[in-house]
Amino acid sequence: MLTDLLLISRSYRRFDESVKISQDVLRDLIDATRYCPSSANRQPLKYRLIFDENETDQVFGCLKFAGYLQDWSGPVAGERPTAYIVVLGDETISKFSEVDAGIAMHTILLRATELGYGGCILASVQREKLREILALDERFHIGYVIALGKPAETSLIEPLGQDGDIKYYRDAEGVHHVPKRSLEDLLI
Ligand SMILES: Cc1cc2nc3c(=O)[nH]c(=O)nc-3n(C[C@H](O)[C@H](O)[C@H](O)COP(=O)(O)O)c2cc1C
Repeated sequence: MLTDLLLISRSYRRFDESVKISQDVLRDLIDATRYCPSSANRQPLKYRLIFDENETDQVFGCLKFAGYLQDWSGPVAGERPTAYIVVLGDETISKFSEVDAGIAMHTILLRATELGYGGCILASVQREKLREILALDERFHIGYVIALGKPAETSLIEPLGQDGDIKYYRDAEGVHHVPKRSLEDLLI
């Protein structure tokens, strides 16, 4: 069921690094995006797959995980993502790829969840450093990076507290909690 998939497809930031993601799996995730809606059907998104260990280390150095968790500086060795997808907008096709990127990235995460993996969309990316590392042509707008792996943490959806705080938090057991607004809060 789609709702079941939506519920378990959380943003994961700690992984079992012994479980690698193959190039074939990454290609499968991108294949799923071909069925996504696209503004004027221009399909400007391009993807750079990162699975080679040398490249994963370099891409990791361009990312910031979980800005709300002040006392956590990101996943340590052994729990880092084992693959990444760099989401690019080909500006020779369209200058506007943000909405397409959102739709495609969630599709990628849902498909990854279906295959037993998980991940996290990252906008906190040192884009110029990443462009250099990957020798990306200027025609590609660097949108986002999706970190992927076999999740090694629990993430639970919670109702918003009385204070209305939307910040996610981690409890003493290391469980990640994500406050979500209620249905009534969304309806005007
Ligand atoms: C556009 C976008 C950018 C995001 N950027 C980051 C990021 O830079 N670092 C990070 O750790 N999480 C990032 N996230 C993940 C969000 O923090 C996460 O979606 C939110 O906390 C809700 O948790 P959930 O995805 O489990 O529902 C991003 C999510 C989106 C949609």
